[in-house]
Amino acid sequence: MASNDELPRIVVLISGSGSNLQALIDATQTPRKLQAKIVGVISNRQKAYGLQRAQQAGIPTETVSLKKFKDQGKTREDFDESVATLIHTMQPDLIVLAGWMHILSPTFLAHFPNNVMNLHPALPGQFDGAHAIERAFEAYQQGRISETGIMVHKVIADVDRGQVILQQPIPILPDDTLETLEDRIHKEEHKIIVQGAQVFLDELACQL
Ligand code: GRF
Repeated sequence: MASNDELPRIVVLISGSGSNLQALIDATQTPRKLQAKIVGVISNRQKAYGLQRAQQAGIPTETVSLKKFKDQGKTREDFDESVATLIHTMQPDLIVLAGWMHILSPTFLAHFPNNVMNLHPALPGQFDGAHAIERAFEAYQQGRISETGIMVHKVIADVDRGQVILQQPIPILPDDTLETLEDRIHKEEHKIIVQGAQVFLDELACQL
């Protein structure tokens, strides 16, 4: 097995609770699940609970603020450049967006054109963008869909539209409430984000 220094390096970007970050942290502690090391966690919200999860696991954290940039008269591109510069210092093989609520611009993706993965709680081509679970539940209630799903995909400039790495349908049940559906989706997300990260890392290793 690879020594800790030889493991592929992951940087995780979060905005909130970080339950998916936790799934990644736990999986790295079971090498059979995820052969990688999380070398940094970046949040765009200082109060994100995921920062505490990272700190408890001994992972370095950073907080970035678009608002601070804007208040200083700087642009969105300036912000993306500075996030990219910060990530470069962590020398990642893979960047995982785990509930990161900023859209990454082409300016950012020019730095990392091929190694950013996003988790999205909907099937490919459905419910792009924010509040995907709520919108899927509403569509079910209107009889427009009978199931929803989750996916991990490569990040390109079009939101939630990059090449799919893994996807999984999730049924919506007649007695589901939004909360029960969300719970079921989150439990499955915690698995697919780990599996997707390993698949992506294996693919990147083949390209070396
Ligand atoms: C997940 O549902 C993810 O798909 C979505 O944001 C949520 C993040 O949850 N885009 P957490 O912060 O990992 O708990």
